Amino acid sequence: MSYQASESVSSEEYNKLWHNCWNTMTTKWDKGDVSPALRELIEEKKWELPSGQGIVPGCGRGYDAMFLASPSLHMVGADLSPIAVETATKLRDAKGISSNLVEFQTLDFFNFDVPASKYQVAYDYTFFCALHPSMRAAWGSRYAEIIAPGGHLIALMYPLFKSEEDRNRGPPFLLSEADYHKVLDENFELIHIDPHCKTHDTRVGEEIITVWRRK
Ligand SMILES: C[S@@+](CC[C@H](N)C(=O)[O-])C[C@H]1O[C@@H](n2cnc3c(N)ncnc32)[C@H](O)[C@@H]1O
Repeated sequence: MSYQASESVSSEEYNKLWHNCWNTMTTKWDKGDVSPALRELIEEKKWELPSGQGIVPGCGRGYDAMFLASPSLHMVGADLSPIAVETATKLRDAKGISSNLVEFQTLDFFNFDVPASKYQVAYDYTFFCALHPSMRAAWGSRYAEIIAPGGHLIALMYPLFKSEEDRNRGPPFLLSEADYHKVLDENFELIHIDPHCKTHDTRVGEEIITVWRRK
């Protein structure tokens, strides 16, 4: 199932697409591992993770949430689909990672109870592009609501390139750095950008990692 970027669609209707993907286990986006750009950012200390609570919205099988979790950073992997959450939880248990470090929750990013202390960090990959372009402004405002002042949003931009015949359809929807500035600049400051970050082999030239600080 795909949509035109210009088409209008309700979020209820659009969300069915994701439930359908998980019901049929059609998860072609899944690369089976942590995104190389995120691993590089953290392991090569290009930017230092805070302590506190973090969230990965649209976490899928949860590799990135598991990678970021540590005794000083409790992570929540969040997904609309209970099947995704169950799959991620089983994977975490199979890896022997404690539920004290990372938990997976079924929730809608746009509508869930945010902890009083909010999140100190969020990681967004293949989530901005998974949303219909008409939902982008709400995506930016929602991150401003859930991230604590001084907290950070790590956004791995993807896909920055699509073929001519596919560029107006999604998900994933084509995006640009300007699309992020448009919806984040009011509440976030771009503090790190690496256009030469490592990428999955099949996504070379299609990704740029960024870190934004909540004002
Ligand atoms: C393209 S997949 C990416 C999954 C994961 N980030 C990865 O790279 O493997 C997008 C995910 O976002 C989830 N999703 C879509 N809309 C959502 C929403 N409003 N709230 C939470 N999760 C959502 C979908 O169920 C799906 O698992």
